[in-house]
Amino acid sequence: MQKDLFSLQGKVALITGASRGIGQAIALAFAEAGADLVLSSRNRRPPELENAAEQARAKGGKVLAIAAHVGKKEDVDQLVEKTLAAFGRIDILVNNAGGNPVLSTMADLEEEAFDKAIEVNLKGAFLVSKAVVGAMVRQGGGRIINISSISGIRARNDRTGAYCITKAALNMMTQVMARELAPHRILVNAIAPGSIRTEFSRVNWTDPERKAQRLQEVELRRFGEPEEVAGLALFLASGASSFVTGEIIRVDGGQTI
Ligand SMILES: NC(=O)c1ccc[n+]([C@@H]2O[C@H](COP(=O)([O-])OP(=O)(O)OC[C@H]3O[C@@H](n4cnc5c(N)ncnc54)[C@H](OP(=O)(O)O)[C@@H]3O)[C@@H](O)[C@H]2O)c1
Repeated sequence: MQKDLFSLQGKVALITGASRGIGQAIALAFAEAGADLVLSSRNRRPPELENAAEQARAKGGKVLAIAAHVGKKEDVDQLVEKTLAAFGRIDILVNNAGGNPVLSTMADLEEEAFDKAIEVNLKGAFLVSKAVVGAMVRQGGGRIINISSISGIRARNDRTGAYCITKAALNMMTQVMARELAPHRILVNAIAPGSIRTEFSRVNWTDPERKAQRLQEVELRRFGEPEEVAGLALFLASGASSFVTGEIIRVDGGQTI
């Protein structure tokens, strides 16, 4: 058993959607634990991504910021190539980039919006995972952590159906890959956050009606903070979780009890 169960000293982590919110909080927690990092996003709001990298750098490790759209294979390939060129290995992948392009019932949902939800939440995690697995196999192991959602566990009825469906599929991809990659000592798990206060969920904590409805659902009667997801990501990235794979772990303040 290693001495510091939660240390990431000597590890290299690639985190998508790391310019803000949950991804950025995970980046800072990993930097604090000693990892070198590659932080990625589409870089839609410069200098957001570079600022996130700068904050992580202040914790002491090496940190690169690389722009990439996770749904575009060329972008993903250059992201992984640059990571390997800079650090020579990838120990931890966090598939965090995601979102909900439109609010619509399934009956009214445009085909393009359905494709977009699949592209970022599901295909993105697939493409980046596929691109890093070769390196992890050569290294003799690794960790893949998918940021899913409780919306992938329990169907909602608030016009987020496409999002729910992609996250449910991501949960199954987590379990399939956990089984397939276990012989290579690659552990694959998912985190299913509930209502976390970020840019993505702004309408839920600013619109009075939606906010009241959410708080009624959450047993702890408050929104979670991105840092409250980061601790579980650190557990799943570190030696502390060496016998955990194929899990979908909720961080939801009791919302789905
Ligand atoms: N907040 C919640 O309540 C909640 C609950 C459950 C699950 N989640 C999940 O947690 C993850 C992070 O969400 P968040 O709340 O932290 O959202 P956020 O604050 O909006 O951050 C999303 C991040 O993803 C990046 N991104 C978006 N589309 C991308 C793409 N196609 N390719 C690469 N990067 C992309 C964004 O940067 P760019 O715009 O620069 O690309 C940003 O860095 C998502 O998977 C979300 O589904 C969130």
